[in-house]
Amino acid sequence: MTQLPASYVPRHVAIIMDGNGRWAQQRGLSRLQGHQEGAQSVQAVLQACRKAGVKFLTLYAFSTENWVRPRSEVNGLMKLLMQFLKEHEPDLHKHKIRLRAIGRLDDLPRPLQAILRHVMKATESYDAGQLVLCLSYGGRAEIVHAASKIARRVKAGELAVADIDEAEFARNLYAPDVPDPDLMIRTSGEMRLSNFLLWQLSYTELYVTDALWPDFREDQFFKALAEYGRRRRRFGHIR
Ligand code: IPE
Ligand code: IPE
Ligand code: MG
Repeated sequence: MTQLPASYVPRHVAIIMDGNGRWAQQRGLSRLQGHQEGAQSVQAVLQACRKAGVKFLTLYAFSTENWVRPRSEVNGLMKLLMQFLKEHEPDLHKHKIRLRAIGRLDDLPRPLQAILRHVMKATESYDAGQLVLCLSYGGRAEIVHAASKIARRVKAGELAVADIDEAEFARNLYAPDVPDPDLMIRTSGEMRLSNFLLWQLSYTELYVTDALWPDFREDQFFKALAEYGRRRRRFGHIR
């Protein structure tokens, strides 16, 4: 199913990649092995986006809340992220995909920050698609960050209070040029946002599947796109 009707194809898909731990537990494996298998799903979904023509893919990889997990799991995830970036850089060049990272990037281990900076810079000019990784990301932290940027500009006399509207506010978010997601997918059945893109998801279609993230591959992704194609987005109208 690679030829989808145009209405099935969201411009931007955002995913809460959840369920790696449960996937591993069901198999008597370590949580880290679950995360490793989850990395394979990232690769599969990236490829599926290219096939389907989805231009923006945002992945929730590590939240501001995830720091409370055991040290060994956090360290393992950081290593896995580094490995993923190293392995996938050639693919990003090959397919002209720009990498972005959003979140409290200063919280990340230095070597991960360095490779992120390198890959982001090296892919900066590409426009075939964008991969946005949310790392040490929290929707509330992003909104607070935007509010304090605006407050500083007001204090410096660069911005009038009367000029603060939704568009101005949105220009102060982490990646203001990325359009809001059309479709948000959450795997492993949890019916919550877990602090993901609180501002940007205002009018996004939500799709929750019981599939655990390591089991979420191309077929599951296309199923989500087909469901998206059946939705009627009204944006407050009565049509
Ligand atoms: C998602 O899988 C990955 C991250 C949050 C980093 P989990 O690790 O949350 O897996 P479950 O929810 O425990 O199954
Ligand atoms: C959300 O998953 C964060 C990521 C997928 C990175 P969690 O597993 O952390 O969410 P909760 O704790 O179940 O809400
Ligand atoms: Mg989870």
